[in-house]
Amino acid sequence: DKGPYPYYMLKEVDEQPNVMRKLASTYTDESGKDTLDPELVDAIKSADRIHIVGAGTSYHAGLVGKKMFEKLTHIPTEVHVASEFAYDDPLLTKNPFFIFLSQSGETADSREVLVNVNARGFKSLTITNVANSTLSREANYTLLLHAGPEISVASTKAYTAQIAVEAILAKAVGMAKEQVTAEDFDVRQQLGLAATGMQAIIDEKETIEDLAKEYFVNATRAFYIGRGIDQTVSLESALKLKEISYVQAEGFASGELKHGTIALIEEGTPVVGIITQAKTAGLTRSNLQETLSRGAQTLTIARNGLKKDDDTIIIPDIDEMITPLLSVVPAQLLAYYTSLNKGLDVDRPRNLAKSVTVE
Ligand code: F6R
Repeated sequence: DKGPYPYYMLKEVDEQPNVMRKLASTYTDESGKDTLDPELVDAIKSADRIHIVGAGTSYHAGLVGKKMFEKLTHIPTEVHVASEFAYDDPLLTKNPFFIFLSQSGETADSREVLVNVNARGFKSLTITNVANSTLSREANYTLLLHAGPEISVASTKAYTAQIAVEAILAKAVGMAKEQVTAEDFDVRQQLGLAATGMQAIIDEKETIEDLAKEYFVNATRAFYIGRGIDQTVSLESALKLKEISYVQAEGFASGELKHGTIALIEEGTPVVGIITQAKTAGLTRSNLQETLSRGAQTLTIARNGLKKDDDTIIIPDIDEMITPLLSVVPAQLLAYYTSLNKGLDVDRPRNLAKSVTVE
């Protein structure tokens, strides 16, 4: 039931702060220690490589996961688009561990990889929103997203829940490996900050609706740009906009834009810079400037600690590694309000199904 909400998507965006709190209390205790199955933590700890597999938004959550696993566990981690990996002939190490990300737990492309993984006797975990789903039943371990049903075709709370679960898991494995980076990362506290930060952004939704009307409703093309973790969020932000508003959007590594794609910038093209990482903030800002001088209308989603006077949307401060939990929320809302103000069916975009059970 969507209650007072016109569409499930807005309801699901709004539910994200509670999902963060729920995951923190489900998977950590009051001291901040994880309550995960020690056998699972051990299986990942002894892996020589982690492979994360997903499609669409779940793949994008995997890209964030890679950064967290490598930083907190020091285990080399690769992320794969399921439909590609299934028919690749990947060079595997002796003891890989596979993590499947799937909101529905039913995506055929991901399942095809899992069937191969099982045939070769490798260990796996499915992170999913649906207990007893196919991917959950067929993997060795399952962690649930506890996000509640996601009805809108455009995935929102599953993305942030996947990132939160990956953060908890990476912290647990990092602690088991006595990594200082893991000791320094208080995941329970950070998820609390994420919850309040998300709420602060959601409370500004009217401002975001105004931006959607001003910049996106009449656009034919748009860009999200960023570096590192912000680049991964640019991919997810662009996907959200494309799938429900039909504005052709690209998420791009901001430094790569000038190597060709900048030719697409025309008078008025909206370009959103995602700026949450201290190391690359200045670089993304100068890349935005390059688009501005070619006629783009530039906007920013910037972390408070890095803000400048003319930033468009400010997100609260949080550990840089999990900024996607906050930076994606304005992008979800921009996509939502663009679709809404174009008079489209936000929850049921054309040509799409909620769960893709064909390869
Ligand atoms: C985008 C979206 C899709 C799904 C993808 C994977 O908003 O919903 O890209 O993320 O089809 O689905 P799951 O996570 O169910 O495997």
